[in-house]
Amino acid sequence: MKKIKNILKKKKKKKKKNQKMKQEIKEDPTLQNININDTIQVYFDIEKCNVDAKVLQIKTDEITNKKLYYVHFLNLEKRMDKWVEQSLIQKNYGKIPNSIDGANLINHSMLNDNFVLTRKRSSLFSNGSYTENENEIDKNVKIKNVEKIILGYYEINAWYFSPFPNEFTTNKILYICEKCLKYMKYKNTLIKHLKKCTFKNPPGKKIYEMKISSELSSSKKKDRISESISVYEIKGSENKLYCQNLCLIAKLFLDHKSIYFDVSPFKFYILTENDKNGNHIVAYFSKEVNELSEYNLSCIMVLPPFQRKGYGQFLISLSYYLSNKQNKICTPETPLSDLGKISYKSYWTITILDALLKNKGNLCVKDLSEQTGIKPEDITYTLNELSLIKYWKGQQVVQNINIKQIEEFLNKKKASKKNHVKFDENYIIDV
Ligand code: ACO
Ligand code: ZN
Repeated sequence: MKKIKNILKKKKKKKKKNQKMKQEIKEDPTLQNININDTIQVYFDIEKCNVDAKVLQIKTDEITNKKLYYVHFLNLEKRMDKWVEQSLIQKNYGKIPNSIDGANLINHSMLNDNFVLTRKRSSLFSNGSYTENENEIDKNVKIKNVEKIILGYYEINAWYFSPFPNEFTTNKILYICEKCLKYMKYKNTLIKHLKKCTFKNPPGKKIYEMKISSELSSSKKKDRISESISVYEIKGSENKLYCQNLCLIAKLFLDHKSIYFDVSPFKFYILTENDKNGNHIVAYFSKEVNELSEYNLSCIMVLPPFQRKGYGQFLISLSYYLSNKQNKICTPETPLSDLGKISYKSYWTITILDALLKNKGNLCVKDLSEQTGIKPEDITYTLNELSLIKYWKGQQVVQNINIKQIEEFLNKKKASKKNHVKFDENYIIDV
């Protein structure tokens, strides 16, 4: 009896404490008045400082009864958007008028290059569509519906909203079969599925296979050392479900492209790392089947655990190899994302400088385009960025270039990529 009394007493105490906490929250007048579209200061845990953020959505947590705010950190990439509790919001935050540019209030040099779009970088690539454009965010508030996916060896945090059916996103975690890309809500369902899944590798035709040394393997764990990489070419029209699932997964890391449910106008190129346990999906790009299209790539995505290892450059090289084989001058479909622009700029820079070096600088934009398969506009853009172009008699001509400087630049760039897997057309099997 005494025991029950004690339990009841404890419960009462806990209830009182909770009520007090709720009151405290209610009693904080500055935090009570936060509305959607307000700009507030939120503690940004990664950099351990307060950052201006715009409130996109407000809700009350059903279990804790606490208010939660879905915020977009100004001048940071949209993939950092998240739900925050009141405890992370600066008290007496003194709402900042929305017209003020929050960039003044944060020292961007503090932010890690790994995950943010810095002001410098955004002005460097100011054309194209940018997700940090506040008006765009207003128009299209898509709150992240999946927090993470479990795929193969990895647990991967999602960056953006993706239109998975609502009934699959209630747990915020998706379990995905890395072989057939079927997504599931529960771990047990995945375990059962893996026992009967008939896929050994991506469907479609294997078009590339190359052995890689253990140093280039993404995983250093003994039983997971990659021995080779492969690329499979898949027709959307023939493997509809696989390609639709791939698009849904890709959308978790792509903000600016609409998802294709009609996958039949596209081919998909899937890159896998292969170890003793089989093929593991790493990245992909899609491409229009239409031979008349000037685009040689529609969407590219490297799964986050495999990024910054050169796979982006590998797939971009493959996309140009494929269009060059058809004697086509091509370009990627725009708009490019921030990371897409960085990757393309890097590919174009190295390819164009290599061509200039081989020809001792004696190439005009047209020659460069014919030699590399890169569209003249992309060549002009890159040469402009490198300050290697000038206008002369109404025409754009390549500046007198310093061969030695270019050689040094390229050597340095290539040395920094010595641990990257590189595309080599000798390993193409059949295209
Ligand atoms: N921050 C800064 N620089 C980066 C980052 C980053 N997070 N990631 C890559 N880079 C740089 C690399 O340093 C490298 O530059 P360098 O050649 O000057 O050294 C360059 O980008 C390419 O690096 P890779 O390792 O080849 O690229 P990665 O394998 O990481 O793939 C990709 C690049 C595909 C853009 C990847 O970041 C990704 O999937 N992002 C999410 C989806 C996306 O934005 N896709 C592009 C959309 S545009 C389109 O589809 C047409
Ligand atoms: Zn499966």
